[in-house]
Amino acid sequence: MSFADRLREDAGRIQSRLDRAVTGAEPVHDAMRHALSGGKRLRGFLVIEGAALCGGPDGLEAAAAIEALHAYSLVHDDLPSMDDDALRRGQPTVHVKWDEATAVLAGDALQTLAFELLAAPECHPDPGVRVALVASLARAAGAEGMVLGQALDIAAESAVAPLDLAAVEALQAGKTGALIEWSGRAGAVLAGADPAPLGAYARALGRAFQIADDLLDAHGDAAAMGKRAGKDAAAGKATFVSLLGVDDARGRAHALVEEACDALSPYGSRAETLRDCARFVLERDR
Ligand code: IPE
Ligand code: IPE
Ligand code: MG
Ligand code: MG
Ligand code: MG
Repeated sequence: MSFADRLREDAGRIQSRLDRAVTGAEPVHDAMRHALSGGKRLRGFLVIEGAALCGGPDGLEAAAAIEALHAYSLVHDDLPSMDDDALRRGQPTVHVKWDEATAVLAGDALQTLAFELLAAPECHPDPGVRVALVASLARAAGAEGMVLGQALDIAAESAVAPLDLAAVEALQAGKTGALIEWSGRAGAVLAGADPAPLGAYARALGRAFQIADDLLDAHGDAAAMGKRAGKDAAAGKATFVSLLGVDDARGRAHALVEEACDALSPYGSRAETLRDCARFVLERDR
C-alpha cells in the first residue's frame, strides 16, 4: 500500500474512533466534534505505524488520544488571546463558530479525553504500559513540553530582542516537537520495544515539520492549508524562516528529513512507510 493510501486509511480509522468518543448533545460536544474533524492525522499515523513496525498491538486508541490532545492544542492556539485565528482546517475556529468560553471548555475536555483513552484497557492489556503512556504524554504536553513552547512562542512576540536560532529551536522543540516525539515513541512503548530509534526519528521529523509549517505560513496557499497565511510575520513570530530566510530554512528541513530517515536504519526496508512520511512532512501543501 502506498504511503498516501496508508495515511488515508489510518486517518479514517482515527476519525471513526474519535466520533465514537464524543456523543453528547450539548454545544460543548458539538464544539469538540468540530475540533476533532479533519486534519492530516500525522501524529496518530506515527503511533499506528510505529506500533505495527515494532510488532505491537493496534495503536488506534493511543493514536486517537494524541489526536484529541493535538486538537485541544489547536483550539487554544487559535484563541484571541493566543494567535487569534478565525480559520482552522478550512472551517471557522471554535471561538468564532461558538464563543470563547466554549472554546476554552471544549479544549479542556479534549485534553482530558486523551488521557481517558490512554487509561482504558482497550489501549493496552498491561496497566503498566498504559500508565507509562499517560505519564509520558502528561510530561510532553505540559509545562516542560508543549505548553512551555507555546508560552515561549507568545512571549517572543513582544520580546525586545529577536530570539536567536538556539532559542527558536528550544521553543519549537516544545510547541511542536514534544507531541510528535511522544507519537513516535508511543508505538514502541505499546510493543514493548526500545523507543530510542523511533524517538530519534520523530525528534528530527518534528523539527522538520515545524520548519515546514513556518515555510507554509510564509509562502503557502491559504486555501490549500485551510488556515490563514502570513500570520507569523504579521505577529512578529520568531521562526527559522524569519531568522534564516526561505532557502536556508528549507535546507535545514531537508537535512532533518535525512536525519529522520537515517534513524530508522535498525528497521531496514520495513520502515519505508515512515521514511515516506518524513519526506511528506516537507513536501506537504497543508
Ligand atoms: C498544526 O499541526 C499545528 C502545528 C503544531 C504546527 P498540523 O499541521 O499537524 O495540523 P492538522 O492536524 O493537520 O490540522
Ligand atoms: C501551534 O503552532 C502549535 C500548537 C498548537 C501546540 P502554530 O501557531 O505555528 O500553528 P498554526 O500555524 O496556527 O497551525
Ligand atoms: Mg501558535
Ligand atoms: Mg497558530
Ligand atoms: Mg504556524
